[in-house]
Amino acid sequence: MTDPKQAEIDYPEAIGEEGRAWLKTKPFHHEPRMTARLLIDFGHVLQILDLHAGMSLVELGCGSGWMTRFSARHGLEAHGYDIAPEMIAIARELAEQEGADAKFDVADMETLDLEHRFDAALLYDALHHSRRADLVLATARKALRPGGRLLLVEPNWKHRFQGRDASDEYGVTEMGYSPRRLKRLLKEAGFNEITRFHNNRKRLFANSPREIAAHVAEPFVYRALGLFWTQTWLRATAP
Ligand SMILES: C[S@@+](CC[C@H](N)C(=O)[O-])C[C@H]1O[C@@H](n2cnc3c(N)ncnc32)[C@H](O)[C@@H]1O
Repeated sequence: MTDPKQAEIDYPEAIGEEGRAWLKTKPFHHEPRMTARLLIDFGHVLQILDLHAGMSLVELGCGSGWMTRFSARHGLEAHGYDIAPEMIAIARELAEQEGADAKFDVADMETLDLEHRFDAALLYDALHHSRRADLVLATARKALRPGGRLLLVEPNWKHRFQGRDASDEYGVTEMGYSPRRLKRLLKEAGFNEITRFHNNRKRLFANSPREIAAHVAEPFVYRALGLFWTQTWLRATAP
């Protein structure tokens, strides 16, 4: 069996030209609905962390760095870290092309020590790629200044099953957490003021009776089926 961390490192090579093309264009060049969801998610990141130009942000498990690069373009001092050197090479190349003043470095988010340098930290779709969530959250905690905030965005509990195709094919780690477990991990890492934000289908509704009914019903459905359906969004503060 491949070492799971080595599998994360090898992933950009293993997914071939088509996969790498997506890493380079993300969030664009996908079907409109997927691109729209990602762009809306970036808006949520800005809003929930209340990110103003001049603040500093670290993204752990940044991949090809689209959120970090967007953050730099918003005026943040943005720094992304990823374990895969090829991800970081793509992120740096794109930052240069876009004129985005973002920094990128290769690092293991389980062991990195960022010496309380940042106002905000982001873990977007990345925590479930580590088998040691406790260590990753300790890194996030140690990255933040007192009062700094972490935003943790994860797929749901069901991802432990949905991610099996990727683990079988590439050997990468695909965990799936319930919101309750994530809250407990955040508390154990020393965070407080833990707030959960509920997700939706990220779409607008027209005025037909069917759409009105969906508009009214969806928040309840999404809250009830959170474990199986939607992403989990949690914000936490470093004391
Ligand atoms: C699903 S991708 C998400 C990437 C990015 N946040 C995005 O939204 O495009 C998960 C990322 O976590 C990275 N990763 C996995 N284990 C890691 C570790 N121990 N330290 C740092 N990065 C890691 C992978 O290389 C991959 O780029």
